[in-house]
Amino acid sequence: MDHFRYREGALWAEGVALSDIAEAVGTPVYVYSTATLLRHYRLFEEALAGLPHLVCYAMKANGNLAVVRTLAEAGAGADVVSAGEYLKARAAGVPAGRIVFSGVGKTRAEMRLALAGGIRQFNVESEPELAALSEVAVALGTRAPVALRINPDVDARTHDKISTGRKEDKFGIPLARARAAYGAAAALPGIAVQGVDMHIGSQLTDLAPFEAAFRRLADLVALLRADGHAIGRLDLGGGLGIPYAAAGAPPPLPAHYGALVARTLGHLGCEIEVEPGRLIVGNAGVLLARVLYLKDGEGRRFLIVDAAMNDLVRPAMYGAHHEVVPVAEPAGEAPLAPFDIVGPVCESADTFARARPLPPLAAGDLVAFRSAGAYGAAMASEYNARPLVPEVLVRGDHFAVIRPRPTYEELIGRDTLPPWL
Ligand code: LLP
Repeated sequence: MDHFRYREGALWAEGVALSDIAEAVGTPVYVYSTATLLRHYRLFEEALAGLPHLVCYAMKANGNLAVVRTLAEAGAGADVVSAGEYLKARAAGVPAGRIVFSGVGKTRAEMRLALAGGIRQFNVESEPELAALSEVAVALGTRAPVALRINPDVDARTHDKISTGRKEDKFGIPLARARAAYGAAAALPGIAVQGVDMHIGSQLTDLAPFEAAFRRLADLVALLRADGHAIGRLDLGGGLGIPYAAAGAPPPLPAHYGALVARTLGHLGCEIEVEPGRLIVGNAGVLLARVLYLKDGEGRRFLIVDAAMNDLVRPAMYGAHHEVVPVAEPAGEAPLAPFDIVGPVCESADTFARARPLPPLAAGDLVAFRSAGAYGAAMASEYNARPLVPEVLVRGDHFAVIRPRPTYEELIGRDTLPPWL
């Protein structure tokens, strides 16, 4: 459930009409709902209430300072994957003791920064990374708290580009080498083993792959404990999917996921860490755009909007589906006609949807791309010299710009000329 609803014939975010935001900030613009963010965070909290746990919001989904601070104030930790995200999490008010550092290629500088600033845990993805982290920690006179990310060789049955737990994926240490890797970790002077980490993919719409992975994890914990390792934490990663399409079966709820965790891992007495990103912020955001032109092609009609693939790359990159709805509520009996929804960028990949049935729309109308809060603004670029899309946060009947649209001077000023030009 989210807080984007039709009211008085128009689409609102909580107590704010989206047309007011478009008027004040211009389009395209991302709009997020605080109530929806908090609702999704609390759903995860409730789902794991029976177990000691920490919800570490995966900042890569949406790293805006205001979004992260909203969640931090509600008690969330953060899952970060770079020095930039670590510093943003701290700036947003996430305590160091609630930050886990994931990622397959951490640099020594990043390790140093997080060790010096304080960190709950590094999720280490290879033996060479483990050795490097130990060296960095020893040089700082400390030990790095670590979970090893184990690749369980489970197919998450999601889009190929966001599947991470198969043996051919670049992530984690193969399950078959896990015991040896823990043996090596225990012998390193700069490493303090805390637990085991996994993350098998994103936008999972079925619990079966999670169940397979969690069962492998439980078996591994038993083996590692028998080998003498104190395993106190299990980081289960993120990945629970959200409903993108209005039609079709909804994905499992956080409560179902929580029950599965309790059933498969609860008996181990570990603290459970989860790293949800999309589930918290995905349906808490829309991308608001304006229709520029309706164009008749050969046998197709194009709806040309002022948002493009540089603002929301998911359809171009993953063939992702986003519902597109008019901001002015269409009449119940309005006839639907198929449109290709496209942006102004100069490539055919800049297509948001093909033959999408839409009610009547005209140039100047506003449309909202739904479920755009996760991996939307976070993956935006300035391709085609289009200024980075701004972001707005709504709370109740207030809204604030939480990232302004850069001016053209700022956009141009980001480049520098060498002395010979
Ligand atoms: N933890 C780790 C280690 C991850 O790699 C990810 C996502 C998450 C947590 C959060 O997963 P979530 O709960 O959001 O599914 N850009 C793609 C998604 C990439 C996901 C990358 N890793 C998209 O737009 O669908």
